Amino acid sequence: MTDAIYKPGLEGVIAGETAVAEVDQTTLRYRGYAIGELAEKTSFEEVAHLLLYGDLPKSAQLNQFKTALTQLRPLPTQLVQTLRLIPADVPMMDVLRTAVSLAGHFDPVTGDSPDDLRRRAVWLTALVAGVVAVRFRLLNRKEPLEPKPGLSHAAQLLYQSLGEDPDPTAARLLDLTLTLYAEHEYNASTFATRIVASTLSDMVSGVVTGIGTLKGPLHGGANEASMAMLKQFDSPEQARKWVYESFEKKRKIMGFGHRVYKNGDHRAHLLEAELRKLAAQKGQQKWMDIYDAVKEPMVKEKGIHPNVDYPCGLTYFLLGLPIDMYTPLFVCSRVTGWCAHFIEQFTNNRLIRPLSRYTGPAPRAVKPISQR
Ligand SMILES: CC(C)(COP(=O)(O)OP(=O)(O)OC[C@H]1O[C@@H](n2cnc3c(N)ncnc32)[C@H](O)[C@@H]1OP(=O)(O)O)[C@@H](O)C(=O)NCCC(=O)NCCS
Repeated sequence: MTDAIYKPGLEGVIAGETAVAEVDQTTLRYRGYAIGELAEKTSFEEVAHLLLYGDLPKSAQLNQFKTALTQLRPLPTQLVQTLRLIPADVPMMDVLRTAVSLAGHFDPVTGDSPDDLRRRAVWLTALVAGVVAVRFRLLNRKEPLEPKPGLSHAAQLLYQSLGEDPDPTAARLLDLTLTLYAEHEYNASTFATRIVASTLSDMVSGVVTGIGTLKGPLHGGANEASMAMLKQFDSPEQARKWVYESFEKKRKIMGFGHRVYKNGDHRAHLLEAELRKLAAQKGQQKWMDIYDAVKEPMVKEKGIHPNVDYPCGLTYFLLGLPIDMYTPLFVCSRVTGWCAHFIEQFTNNRLIRPLSRYTGPAPRAVKPISQR
């Protein structure tokens, strides 16, 4: 036991193997494909197929995958009834966590073979998008909408939320963020999901765990937190002043820094380029100036770079989406990565059970209650 290695936060520790994704300072690949190429050449549905089935789909496979997503899209009526009962001030991430757990009682897939698990993963992908859209509708005092045939997953999500045919730029950018967010090897929520799989528990429990873990502002919650931060500022000067104050107060700035990437996050670069075009197209340069006013001192003075959540928060904001929806949209994507890892762990399992270093009181005897 004494020669066991201890690293706070498991920093730098290899905690398992995976064939799903490769992450290091210079690389992010999903099953061998570079993220930049995937972002440029594929849709989220193709990426989801890649993660769950191991390779990019051929045309017929993609059609089958889309058909399965469509068939599995309707939410159980009991779930929609329950969503109507949840108070409006409950954060959407909490609603999503409850909804997935409840939907698990109406799982349309039986069995635990690799094919069953993959089909369940497709159902969960359709489910979380459906829940986000229904919650959005109900919060806006509108009735849930039936899916519209022929739309991409991203366009469907926007259509079922907003109730109108989505603007093609919005659908394309949401699709891009879904691709960028889909998978990131042993990040905290995926690792938590793998731990669930390693006990041979079920995939719904794994996804519920993933949602609960992603919610925190040090993880996926950073896309909401970073936009909430930017919204405080009326001008770049105000933003810059606040950043320098933050340095003095040792306040963390959300959407910056990463456990693995110390010289920048590939996904942030890709998305930021699109965000700049979007801001110009929408006549919203003011927001880009505020964005840059936070970024420049962080990079120059501290050498801390934006992670993907920083451009993502502002991208969703400029698309007119409410902040409470940003981390749930992350779930709509990362659910595919969680499930790919769940399947990998479940089908080639060793229980994940590390050690801890004890730091409590020295051994002592229990006194009778009258003498304590
Ligand atoms: C992601 C994160 C948790 C990684 O943390 P980590 O690998 O444990 O790195 P640390 O927190 O130890 O940071 C190392 C140093 O950089 C600083 N730092 C890291 N991220 C920072 C941030 N976002 N704002 C200000 N300082 C930051 C730390 O304060 C620390 O400084 P110190 O050495 O003077 O104490 C961290 O960067 C963070 O909290 N970022 C903000 C939340 C966020 O955007 N999360 C999404 C991640 S994809």
